Amino acid sequence: MNNFKKIFSIALITIVFFISGKLTAQKYEGLALTPPMGWNSWNKFACDIDETLIKEIADAIVESGMKDAGYIYVNLDDCWHGERDSLGFIHPDPERFPSGMKALADYIHSKGLKIGIYSCAGYKTCGGRPGSRGYEYQDALTYAKWGIDYLKYDWCNTEGLCAEGAYMTIRDAIRSAGRPMVLSICEWGDNQPWEWGKDVGHLWRTTGDITNCFDCFVDHGTWKSWGVTYILDMQEGLRQYAGPGHWNDPDMLEVGNGMSVNEDRAHFSMWCMLAAPLIAGNDIRNMSKETLEILTNKEAIAVDQDPLGIQGFKYSSEDSVEIWFKPLVNDEWAFCILNRNETDKEIVFDWQKEKVIDELFDKKLDTQNKTYRLRDLWKHEFVGTTDEPLKAIVPSHDVLMLRLVK
Ligand code: GLA
Repeated sequence: MNNFKKIFSIALITIVFFISGKLTAQKYEGLALTPPMGWNSWNKFACDIDETLIKEIADAIVESGMKDAGYIYVNLDDCWHGERDSLGFIHPDPERFPSGMKALADYIHSKGLKIGIYSCAGYKTCGGRPGSRGYEYQDALTYAKWGIDYLKYDWCNTEGLCAEGAYMTIRDAIRSAGRPMVLSICEWGDNQPWEWGKDVGHLWRTTGDITNCFDCFVDHGTWKSWGVTYILDMQEGLRQYAGPGHWNDPDMLEVGNGMSVNEDRAHFSMWCMLAAPLIAGNDIRNMSKETLEILTNKEAIAVDQDPLGIQGFKYSSEDSVEIWFKPLVNDEWAFCILNRNETDKEIVFDWQKEKVIDELFDKKLDTQNKTYRLRDLWKHEFVGTTDEPLKAIVPSHDVLMLRLVK
């Protein structure tokens, strides 16, 4: 082979490699091996956000111990936007974010945290701000320049778009911008994102919006928002789709936004059993001792963040009392009794008589040959073993959450 041929072949191989790389653009892997944890502005502040608030929240995440508990992402939701300039570049609202997004990202990074931002596949966001339709690559490039680490991508004003295609476009745009970002698919479960989301994003909303109540829903006319138990029921049949790097997202937390302490504890526990992303949605600058204790319960968080990444399942449901299990590493298990009744309930659970099998993930709880110690994850003490039947009173709208420890 003469030199010309050699150079020609190398050039050809490089071009083919480059083109095929572009055609098969991948999401950034390894960014969400456990469910993402952080904070988002929407549930508490809706459109009323500015850079002072976000910086104060970042400070509070560090000072309160939330960062130590694993809450890393500080996510701006809708309404940070100003206008696009004559070249199409998006800018933040100049009155609310006068220092610009790069400066805010630098501030958040200086605290050892990461920053998330929000956009929408439609031409306008749900809050009526400029959406990314037609500007996907330009927006991804802008976010990358600002230093953004996480993008929540919404689904308002998308008439005529195919969801899978639209989310693939923004995935490819992020890849091409060259900065790793978690991609949070927020199309409310309308187009079965669990069936195609694994190769596209890192988490996908499974339902419409959460609302701040345990057992109710709110009818907004053209759409509804859902309380904790409604969202929980909508997770049925989805656990097979979740795993490290790709999670079902039952929406952000309402802990600290007005439910009772029991209800907040039950909500948080069930999100941990579901291996859900834990994105706090309260004003963490001013939270009660109880709210902080719930959000930073490291033993409950360890259930959520278990490296196996298996979503829990409902084992039984009787009389509005549900029993859930979640397989954990080293053959350990999380166990949670959820009392959905208005009254307290007395429960007896005989470990020796129950047959707990997770066929989907090939796990079996063996209490015949092994004795597990029962760790109460809210009392933070051992309360017995699997050799004896468990007897407990579970208060109304509350849980008993245990870890079966070998
Ligand atoms: C949608 C999303 C919410 C929030 C709002 C913002 O409703 O599902 O989580 O981002 O838009 O407008």
